[in-house]
Amino acid sequence: MKPTIETIGQHVGEEVTIGCWLSNKRSSGKIAFLQLRDGTGFIQGVVPKSAVSEDTFQLSKSVTQESALYVTGTVQEDERAPSGYELSISGIELIHEASEYPITPKEHGTEFLMDHRHLWIRSKNQHAVLRIRHEIIRATYEFFDKEGFTKVDPPILTGSSAEGTTNLFHTKYFDEDAYLSQSGQLYMEAAAMAFNRVFSFGPTFRAEKSKTRRHLIEFWMIEPEMAFVEHEESLEIQEEYVSYIAASVLKNCQLELEALGRDKSKLEQIHAPFPRMTYTEAIDWLKEQGYEIEWGEDFGAPHETAIAEYHNKPVFITHYPKDIKAFYMKPDPENEDVVLCADLIAPEGYGEIIGGSQRIDDEALLRERYQEHDLSEDAYRWYLELRQYGSVPHSGFGLGLERTVAWMTGIEHVRETIPFPRLLNRLYP
Ligand code: 4AD
Ligand code: MG
Repeated sequence: MKPTIETIGQHVGEEVTIGCWLSNKRSSGKIAFLQLRDGTGFIQGVVPKSAVSEDTFQLSKSVTQESALYVTGTVQEDERAPSGYELSISGIELIHEASEYPITPKEHGTEFLMDHRHLWIRSKNQHAVLRIRHEIIRATYEFFDKEGFTKVDPPILTGSSAEGTTNLFHTKYFDEDAYLSQSGQLYMEAAAMAFNRVFSFGPTFRAEKSKTRRHLIEFWMIEPEMAFVEHEESLEIQEEYVSYIAASVLKNCQLELEALGRDKSKLEQIHAPFPRMTYTEAIDWLKEQGYEIEWGEDFGAPHETAIAEYHNKPVFITHYPKDIKAFYMKPDPENEDVVLCADLIAPEGYGEIIGGSQRIDDEALLRERYQEHDLSEDAYRWYLELRQYGSVPHSGFGLGLERTVAWMTGIEHVRETIPFPRLLNRLYP
């Protein structure tokens, strides 16, 4: 493989040529400093007038931001550089001279940057966030593979809805009605009966009218589903999984975390076990703190933030009232008003990153829920059939990738954690 900025440390003292772009520059009469990026990383190139041809020096002074270059130079160790290396440039070949680049080193408003998202992803912070996103995806595959899960891909176009009908994206499927998937869960339950432990990773869609820092219209979810696993064991797998991604990000994304100024001690605190609190305990605690909330109501962002701040670790809230949760959740045998479910609330105000539960495995009870929730027996017949042929206790959960990336990177808003966000008022670019 050709040397890249990421692997340049393997070439100290050697002369290398790198295809790159100019991200910034400064120069005086005798020396020019070029900030170069090649997509794998960032490095400073130094061009002393005395060491290069007159043409090369003039080019290094006049070259425009984001021009594409082949840069040749000798790799040098440099303790002051974030990457630890610097390039002592001997030659520059201009591949393409960029027009006046709209994103200058000065400050820009978010709407402007979002309009230029196709270019903004080149900048150092955005690059770091999306590389951490990649690391979380990589670690996810590694974790579930190591634990014996099979990756199964549920469909995107569906005739059924897992999470209620209020925020469905409707479309025509020839003559039938169809929806974009809100969650692959129901299909993953079928897959768990075929492969025991499975996980999916794919886009999910919710026509949410909420304009908050936690909501996207299109977001990516990791959905494991496990046969013969009950509520408590599922929580243990969830906390191990989340701890595993935090450790992987800490280990493999040092430069990115530094570029973002992320407080690493916050990530070091993420290790299993996580505290657990029942919904009822959470309501009592919130009331003690002076919040006006009654048993039976769902939590809002301020409630979740308060609970997570109190624990200063991700916290599981378990056993929610059945009336505010999805139709497929299994009632607690000790109290039929609540279900065997848990939301995992991230610290620092990032909110719910996982929703999960043990699923109803009894055919008669599921039929009852269909009626209460007005679900058509036709569209959901296949899901009921899973309870007719070797039904077993099973549990699963969904982790929202963008909220997890936001939390791990310390980025305020989920819109910066996905390359091209789909937001309430944004379909461009
Ligand atoms: O809690 P939710 O709705 O759970 C499900 O969809 C289950 N069927 C998952 C399962 O058990 N297989 O969504 C799961 C997670 C949330 O905890 C949150 O992290 C994320 O998906 N999420 C969103 N992220 C960004 N934008 C949105 N609009 C989101 N809605 C949910
Ligand atoms: Mg939820």
